[in-house]
Amino acid sequence: MVDREQDRALAKATGIVENALLGKTRAPVVHTFFDEATFTATHVVHDPENRAAAIIDPVLDYDPASGRISYESADKVIAYVKEQGLQIAWLLETHAHADHLSAAPYLKGALGGRIAIGAHIVEVQDTFGAMFNAGDEFQRDGTQFDHLFADGDTFTIGEIDAVVLHVPGHTPADLAYVVGDAVFPGDTIFMPDFGTARADFPGGDARTLYRSIRRLLELPGKARLFLCHDYKAPGRDEFVWETTIAEERDGNIHAASGVNEDDFVTMREARDATLGMPRLILPSIQVNMRAGHFPPPEDNGTRYLKIPVQGV
Ligand SMILES: [Fe+2]
Repeated sequence: MVDREQDRALAKATGIVENALLGKTRAPVVHTFFDEATFTATHVVHDPENRAAAIIDPVLDYDPASGRISYESADKVIAYVKEQGLQIAWLLETHAHADHLSAAPYLKGALGGRIAIGAHIVEVQDTFGAMFNAGDEFQRDGTQFDHLFADGDTFTIGEIDAVVLHVPGHTPADLAYVVGDAVFPGDTIFMPDFGTARADFPGGDARTLYRSIRRLLELPGKARLFLCHDYKAPGRDEFVWETTIAEERDGNIHAASGVNEDDFVTMREARDATLGMPRLILPSIQVNMRAGHFPPPEDNGTRYLKIPVQGV
């Protein structure tokens, strides 16, 4: 039953991509801002006829040494949105990021739009709420977000159809957004020469990630794929964040067609065992599990982020 529902969601996504590729519906315009401090791509996707738009995975600048936040990255997005005359309908998170803080609340204040993430965020909130010993003020029901999406849910950006695919593995709540012929896969696959996302965070699972990637790669080969991160593969000097489903199928160094599940899991788990924690994982998670909001101020008026100390 679940499989049949997953098939239906994938069929919906395939139909949306094909209609855009065949010119039956408009293809969206995608403009990307790349944050070199966290290697994150923020995408602004819009309907060129009526200027309706969504912002995907916006970055808040954060200096961990001083605890100071700033808005240079977010303000560039705001300037672009205003210059293009876009109307922001959605602020879409592909997942609760562990490498950067979300600027979604700041952008919502400036531009409007509804902040959305995957419905499985409640599992992530349970895990990290416990890990950071958050108090009762931290609800584990996703209500910090304006909307929670499940697999197969549809929405529109202007007159462009979009559908959500649940692609767990990196985290339990990861989503891919399919908007016309543009696919935003979040942390699943990266550029073909770099491979795939890690699967060793709490609730992550390499086998689940493999299955999510296989599902994504069933989309039409000509679909444009806009990645969440790029880290420059060895031998490549520039950041790149756009490819196609066909290029991933043919050449992804971890997950191209023909790589079997067990081999992928062995490779992914061995590689993950060598990776250090992302520089901003502790502040990012505490903020992103709250939809980009900081914990409430303490009685001196200051907001604090916690560091759980290991090995004492
Ligand atoms: Fe991530």
